[in-house]
Amino acid sequence: MSEENKQKSSIWGGRFKGGPSDLMQEINASITFDKALYAEDIQGSKAHAQMLEKQHIISPDDLKAIQQGLDKIHREIASGAFSFSVELEDIHMNIETRLAELIGDPAKRLHTARSRNDQVATDIRLYVRNQIDELDVGLQQLQENLLKKAGENTKTLMPGYTHLQTAQPISFGFHLAAYIEMIGRDRQRLQDCRKRVNESPLGAAALAGTSFPIDRHLTAKLLDFDRPMPNALDAVSARDFALEFTSAATICAIHLSRLAEEIVIWSTDRFNFIRLSDEFTTGSSIMPQKKNPDAAELIRAKPGRIMGHFISLATILKGLPLAYGKDMQEDKEPLFDTTKTLSISIAAMSGMIADMSINTAAMRDALQKGHPTATDLADFLVRNLGKAFRDAHHISGTLVALADERGCALENLSLTEMQSIEPLLDENVYSVLKIEEACNARSSFGGTAASDVELRLAEAAIRFNLNDEHE
Ligand code: ARG
Repeated sequence: MSEENKQKSSIWGGRFKGGPSDLMQEINASITFDKALYAEDIQGSKAHAQMLEKQHIISPDDLKAIQQGLDKIHREIASGAFSFSVELEDIHMNIETRLAELIGDPAKRLHTARSRNDQVATDIRLYVRNQIDELDVGLQQLQENLLKKAGENTKTLMPGYTHLQTAQPISFGFHLAAYIEMIGRDRQRLQDCRKRVNESPLGAAALAGTSFPIDRHLTAKLLDFDRPMPNALDAVSARDFALEFTSAATICAIHLSRLAEEIVIWSTDRFNFIRLSDEFTTGSSIMPQKKNPDAAELIRAKPGRIMGHFISLATILKGLPLAYGKDMQEDKEPLFDTTKTLSISIAAMSGMIADMSINTAAMRDALQKGHPTATDLADFLVRNLGKAFRDAHHISGTLVALADERGCALENLSLTEMQSIEPLLDENVYSVLKIEEACNARSSFGGTAASDVELRLAEAAIRFNLNDEHE
């Protein structure tokens, strides 16, 4: 035990004769990571002090000194001049101790009617709320980049896949538009989570409220929370908002990883549908020709971390009795890394989408294989020849087998060849076998027809409040 550590903590050391061991300090201290909460901690303390003064619990002079001291500490930390101390455990005690150095006695009155339990709960709610707002800006930008690329490509035809096998012709714009919807739901999930984040635990004190005449509605209002949480025990114990946040973040990261995987596939030289910019690719140290989609691969991998953080939090909270347990200090790093990982994934995806170039010829070529209009042929047999769909499916399948045998596309079979399978077929069948026509024929709501995709994109721009450069 170092001499320094033997000194008992001046903040909670009243009943202690010695100080914690080095090891105790090491496992106990959170300052190495919770210093990220300094701005929220100061914001919460200023609101608390303002309320204490209004309720005549501290004097106007105390309030003034506290506010000035906290502002100075904010500047010190922001500029890197503040020296954090592990002996002081966490961000709350680091700031409070520095405040006492700066302003003396009034600092000792700041913690009246408050505990670190409601203080830390307030800090992380403010933190998660800020992060949700920042993530929303990033996701909105990503939607705008997708919207722009989609708008430019409503007539750029490519195969749509199921099982990664050619299915039906779609447009690249239609494909990207699917992600605008997915990201839109991610934004909605985060906004919904924000409602439950945005309630104030401040004034719950250790777990039971306080006998001081505080005004929790005032602190809630000062911190832009919607309301004070109605049960003090719940207020300090609840971390379900962190579970909700990391689960919404996990779903969002999974969506990004699906798009990332498609980008990896599209940029292979087999597909060659898109080319990523130099900004979002790397070279190989040995193979000079390589241009690797590392950013996309990392975005593909990142959900592992984020869903791991959800699992960590869920495991920490499972079976944890009310109210506070030091277990809860372990909520910080998963939350911090979730926001860091998700926001960089969103930003990199945004950049990749904006910068990518599209190889329309390769997409078009890919449609020559895999008979993407076989469904249209079956539909033709139903519509024009009155066949039942199951029979039509069988006939179309037999024609596909014939085309494969001949090594050609369906539309390259001669009418005589077609009539050898279905004698009633006539010249009109060739129009439905054309790729453009097949794509544009799907004009049902939400279908691939360019006119429909354009309408849906315009409507998505309004629904998600997106800047639509296309209009
Ligand atoms: N550093 C602690 C945390 O992050 C602050 C709360 C400490 N409360 C306590 N009763 N020891 O959870």
